[in-house]
Amino acid sequence: MKVKICKKNMKVIVCEDYEELSRQSAELIEKQIHLRPNSVLGLATGSTPIGTYRILAERNKTGVIDFSEITTVNLDEYYPISPTDPQSYRYFMNEQLFSKVNIDIDRTFVPDGSAVDPIKECIEYEERIDRLGGIDIQILGIGVNGHIGFNEPDLSLNAYTHLTDLTPSTIAVNSRFFKSEDDVPKKAITMGMASIFKARQIILLASGSSKTKAVTKVLEGDIDTSCPATLLNLHPNVIIICDRDCLPN
Ligand code: F6R
Repeated sequence: MKVKICKKNMKVIVCEDYEELSRQSAELIEKQIHLRPNSVLGLATGSTPIGTYRILAERNKTGVIDFSEITTVNLDEYYPISPTDPQSYRYFMNEQLFSKVNIDIDRTFVPDGSAVDPIKECIEYEERIDRLGGIDIQILGIGVNGHIGFNEPDLSLNAYTHLTDLTPSTIAVNSRFFKSEDDVPKKAITMGMASIFKARQIILLASGSSKTKAVTKVLEGDIDTSCPATLLNLHPNVIIICDRDCLPN
């Protein structure tokens, strides 16, 4: 592992491989929970955090981490989708983490993909984050196109939680979890960049060569809304944990 301080606001931890990346991010979350047992954790789905969640569940089983006072808020959810649909992010979180730790399921929040009025759901979701006192640590993955949450490349990236259209490239990438591309929902409810920026600390996880282009742009430091993750250069407290494969040779 190599730690580089890029700028005052951004630390980059370069790991040998995915396993080490998962260990590093689980350790940061563990430290946060020990520091503040009633922390609010911002969580992501996708392939990248799966190893982190596995380790957190193991650490919970052995009694090292206690989730009993933890609250979680997830970044996003497809729309429309039922929370019981195996492709939903609610289902994913239940499977990968919530059913494996001693968390109070009523304190785990994922946008409701079955809400009749999605706009109302977005407003209420954002209000809930504020009522909880904000997010202590927000875990993020990064899309091949640089999206974070479902904040896709766009000219304007100033939104709070909102309903958004998925880009054809994200639909194509995410179709690996579905029977076909046609089955991927075309919309999602996502925390906006403005919501993500309210988190006190952000941990961005990036693994594998498909992420090299997006991560390189973030590390170059220019702000470019065609790669939403570059906006993280404006946040005061970001840790990027990546593996060697995702850095340029
Ligand atoms: C998931 C999310 C997405 C993913 C991103 C990377 O909640 O918000 O932004 O983090 O698409 O996905 P993986 O980790 O599957 O490469």
